[in-house]
Amino acid sequence: MASKNEVVSSQELLEAQAHLWNHIFSYINSMALKCALQLGIPDIIHKHGHPITLPQLADALLINKLKSHGLYRLMRILVDSHFFHYEGEAYSLTTASRLLLRDNPHSLAPFALVFTDPIMMDPFHHVSEWFRDDCPSPFVTTNGMNYWEFVGSDEKWNRLFNEAMTSDGRFVGSMIVKECKHVFEGLKSVVDVAGGSGAVVKTIAEAVPGMECIVLELPHVVAAMEGLSDHENIRFVSGDMFEFIPPADACFLKWIMHGWNDEKCVKILEKCKEAVIGSENVKGGKVIIVDMVVDVEKEEEKGTGTQLFMDMVMMAQFTGKERSEKEWANVFEAAGFKDYKITPVLGTRSVIEVFP
Ligand SMILES: C[S@@+](CC[C@H](N)C(=O)[O-])C[C@H]1O[C@@H](n2cnc3c(N)ncnc32)[C@H](O)[C@@H]1O
Repeated sequence: MASKNEVVSSQELLEAQAHLWNHIFSYINSMALKCALQLGIPDIIHKHGHPITLPQLADALLINKLKSHGLYRLMRILVDSHFFHYEGEAYSLTTASRLLLRDNPHSLAPFALVFTDPIMMDPFHHVSEWFRDDCPSPFVTTNGMNYWEFVGSDEKWNRLFNEAMTSDGRFVGSMIVKECKHVFEGLKSVVDVAGGSGAVVKTIAEAVPGMECIVLELPHVVAAMEGLSDHENIRFVSGDMFEFIPPADACFLKWIMHGWNDEKCVKILEKCKEAVIGSENVKGGKVIIVDMVVDVEKEEEKGTGTQLFMDMVMMAQFTGKERSEKEWANVFEAAGFKDYKITPVLGTRSVIEVFP
């Protein structure tokens, strides 16, 4: 790096400018993806059955023909970011865009739409304001209420958010079944703490027969799920995880702890401990967490940037954070747990078993 009095070369300055521009405009990647999803481009290419040309795509999308040049430019940026292949003047899907197909059982389309919605993005416009005010999160600075109060007050957002979580839940559930089903084997009962629609335990219960599953959730979520559960081994219980967690051989918490500060996490874990110790199967008692274990030292790991993005999401919307192994260990110890085991088989996330 150049020292104070050193003349910086034009090349270095131009590279710095390009770096700056990339950061200023990187939201366009999210917005281009959102537009493709809203137009249903992945589904149309899939339905077409083979690579689709631009005029065929424009016809299928029923867009204003005068704007076909815009479609070409939208597709060009999405090809550049590996959402579509472009070969022989025709577009086809990549593994990433297959994940956005509506009829793919692992579709992450609802997740992508929720996290590119102004409701989730607006708090990022208020982060500097939040640094100076007394609000617990930029979401509160923006909306005057915390995220869960907001979800409880807006029926439409409650449905969209639950769909987003369900899509991620199905995806993660199927990965757990493939990569580390043994974590659940031998358990007679599991309580999915703040389990949303119960999509994860539902997927796991199909692969580990005989496991009774309880989903503990806030009343507005349980009300929205009423009559929707089609799995005989799943029961919804309405309640507050800070007050009481029903007894079970294991407590499962996917994407819960990262939404809360250390103090709240210790409280949740203490309730989990009471639940697994109160279970008949004391021997098998454990807490199973699905969350990130941040390792900023491992710069070469591709996922670190994603983990840092998610950490900022936790800061902007909630009052949580993504934790390093040391931070996790401190929380487990403070809640009175004796041991833990991290199994890093879910990409940027891990399965963490915690033993009382
Ligand atoms: C990020 S979502 C994760 C849902 C689910 N575990 C998943 O990953 O698909 C967090 C969930 O916590 C629930 N929640 C928030 N506060 C809660 C509380 N005090 N007691 C029970 N559930 C709560 C919310 O309703 C929401 O469904």
